[in-house]
Amino acid sequence: MAKVAVLGYGTVGSGVVSVLDTNAAEVEKSAGEALELKYILDLRDFPGDKHEAQVVHDINVILDDPEVEVICETMGGIEPAFSFEKSALEKGKSVCTSNKELVAAHGPELVELAKKNGVSYLFEASVGGGIPVLRSLNDSLKHEKVDSITGILNGTTNYILTKMDKEGAEFSKVLKVAQEKGYAERNPEADVEGYDACRKIAILASLMSGKHVNYEDIYTEGITKVTIEDFAYARTMGMAIKLLAMCKRNENGFFTMVSPFLIPLENPLASVNGVFNAINIHGNMLGDVMFYGKGAGKNATASAVVADVIDIVKHRGKHINVNMKAEKAVISSKDNAVRSFFVRVPLEQEDQAKEIFGSKIEVIDGGEANHEFAFVTDMISEKDFEERLWKLDSVKGYIRLF
Ligand code: HSE
Repeated sequence: MAKVAVLGYGTVGSGVVSVLDTNAAEVEKSAGEALELKYILDLRDFPGDKHEAQVVHDINVILDDPEVEVICETMGGIEPAFSFEKSALEKGKSVCTSNKELVAAHGPELVELAKKNGVSYLFEASVGGGIPVLRSLNDSLKHEKVDSITGILNGTTNYILTKMDKEGAEFSKVLKVAQEKGYAERNPEADVEGYDACRKIAILASLMSGKHVNYEDIYTEGITKVTIEDFAYARTMGMAIKLLAMCKRNENGFFTMVSPFLIPLENPLASVNGVFNAINIHGNMLGDVMFYGKGAGKNATASAVVADVIDIVKHRGKHINVNMKAEKAVISSKDNAVRSFFVRVPLEQEDQAKEIFGSKIEVIDGGEANHEFAFVTDMISEKDFEERLWKLDSVKGYIRLF
């Protein structure tokens, strides 16, 4: 019987306990032996809880117990989670986590530490909640040369964009309702500014490159500037607006970014609505494969953590290889990426926009009603676009085309 400890009895931690309880028979069948929850670390007590007796307040109780094989870190944040994980790995205990902030910042060095100590460090739940995308990259797609990963990696922003599109409601109103319903955090910055998606694509990009893609090197724009007028134009163009996180292989290494994009309705990512996540992976032999599912939520995320525990127990005594090294990956600047851009300027600037962006622009219907001129540029580089944008007297908004 494998003994497990859970660090943090919050949403995900209590979900892990619930999966271990509810699906005990299935977990045993899958792992080949029963899993026993020996400890729960939390600052609080939980009087009356079924697992009250397992709650401890001192991490050393867990670290010093040789019976504990696997630690599930579901506390979140960098410290003390980082110190706890390092100590656990150094003591020969495997660790699995849902902590995307920590994995994005220190995942590769923790993988190396696990390898050095002959144990495993797994983090399926850190990207896409319950979607088994990391395990697929690490296993079924290991032999593929992955050219690109494109994902809708944040449920909160996808919910907000879906509501804005379907109900014609302004960003601030939808955000307020989402907060009231508990879909969005009270401090929504990490979601709406794209930081959460940035950390998740940093983890995927690290796995794709086999090195460490630092999330601070990833160009990130959130959804706060997307308006309901943009959705009206998008419908005219037969497109959807989605916050995409992407990583592409190029001749210099890798290019990665997070930004709202206009994507054609025929692209499967355009149909991903509400709090759902989806990740499209393009392998050189396989072509496109898309993963879709619940990117957040207690049980879905906890299920992914338990999948890691099972993997670890099945590979007892072995380090499960994860394609990540602490060496920094080379990330190309976004300047050379080439695409078209949808731009809105005040109507008086029509001539100026045509002069600056040239005759190859495509005018988008519907601008006059808003007293504006809307158009799509020719394919130009990000740098070229930025330089031309600066020449305009004013800009009402712009969105990249996928
Ligand atoms: N805030 C995240 C989201 C939770 O909305 O997707 C899951 O990481």
